[in-house]
Amino acid sequence: MGQVLVACQRCGDLLDVVYDWERARPPRSLREFESLWGRRREPACYSGVWRFQRLLPFCSPEEIVTVGEGQTLFQRADAVARYVDVQPGCLFLQYEGMNPSGSFKDNGMSAAFTHARMTGATRAACASTGNTSASLAMYCAMTRLMKAVIFIGSGKISYGKLSQALDYGALTVQLSGDFDDAMARVREISGELGIYLVNSINPFRLEGQKSIMFRVLEALAWDPPDWIVVPGGNLGNSSAFGKAFAELKMLGLVPRVPRLAVINAAGADTLYQLYEQRGMRWNGGHTAMQVADGYFRELDATDQKASTIASAIEINRPVNFRKCLRALETCDGVVRRVTDQEILDAKAQVGAGGVGCEPASAASVAGAKLLRSQGVIAADDRVVCVLTGHQLKDPTATVAYHTTDQDQFNQVLGSRGVRRASYANRAVAVPNDLGEIIKAIRLYS
Ligand code: F0G
Repeated sequence: MGQVLVACQRCGDLLDVVYDWERARPPRSLREFESLWGRRREPACYSGVWRFQRLLPFCSPEEIVTVGEGQTLFQRADAVARYVDVQPGCLFLQYEGMNPSGSFKDNGMSAAFTHARMTGATRAACASTGNTSASLAMYCAMTRLMKAVIFIGSGKISYGKLSQALDYGALTVQLSGDFDDAMARVREISGELGIYLVNSINPFRLEGQKSIMFRVLEALAWDPPDWIVVPGGNLGNSSAFGKAFAELKMLGLVPRVPRLAVINAAGADTLYQLYEQRGMRWNGGHTAMQVADGYFRELDATDQKASTIASAIEINRPVNFRKCLRALETCDGVVRRVTDQEILDAKAQVGAGGVGCEPASAASVAGAKLLRSQGVIAADDRVVCVLTGHQLKDPTATVAYHTTDQDQFNQVLGSRGVRRASYANRAVAVPNDLGEIIKAIRLYS
């Protein structure tokens, strides 16, 4: 096969996967997918991505690469509903932390890997805040189809994620700089060395990530919710969700499209600034990119770098920005930003329900709460918050939130403007003495 491109060689814009639906023969009803449940022994039916292959028909069934991704949990969460202030039964968590590498990235990686194999690639690369790299490293290690080369900003990745890349044997390049620097470099390097790039600028990643929405619909018996709320970093997920709904709508497979809320961290809020503050819109593809260019020049002139405890979304130059604008148009979307304090409080509330998540994921719940307080989300709206990554990805942030050690709290969180841990579950220190232990249990339980 020829050259592998992720961007148009003339205008530099990202490519999109477009299907000839007449030839692809999509299902007539989403219910048709239910018949595949009984065939779970077949890897493509077991996979929560490839079960929906007829909605991402870029390869033949024999070409699929799967490690069993997409076995996720959709949970009604009434305690979180109370926190967000919607009615019981109205708030759901789509828990993508159950994927084999612990984040939603596996959905897209299985699709990108499938395409990479179709092109005969032997090496695959990404820049990452940690989850893409963990996922790539895992697919390489499990399938032995390719070698992983990953680029991470130094000191910018949580230990849970770094440990995965190292454990799974990826060539791990620590760059002095942040994710935005690493992203720019990896594009250059993969072009130069002909390495297959698996960041979400790769349109096949987004094809896989559409399946997150298919599973949400499946869990709701194909009745679309009112809202999908998702954290925004590089904006691959939000772009993929918008594409999924645009296609479902065009194919007549859903009665309506949910609204999309993309939530930035306040310290990495490019989408919020450009969409909500400066009014940028998709505008039929005629996006006023000079507005974005001006914004990035301002960031450069003042040397502003992304900074948030939610390291997964510590990104100022989201590569899928334009596709996300398209998704926001498709889904009548809104963008909000939430502080690290709001993120960690929401994360503690999610954790208290037993479905723990990493900080970036909790931005969705914090964002839903904010939108509810602004009256944008109504009390009886059905809201799905996507929890993008597993709780164990970033234990440092969690432990610092719950700690009794003020120095630890200040070092990890105080430096980021977090002042309180309102929902902390503090460990109880007791001497090794039976009487004291019993006293403590009586006192606290
Ligand atoms: N949540 C988590 C846990 C993530 O790891 C990421 C992105 C996002 C949200 C944002 O998603 O980019 O689709 O808007 N992590 C990337 C990485 C950048 O390298 O692992 P997005």
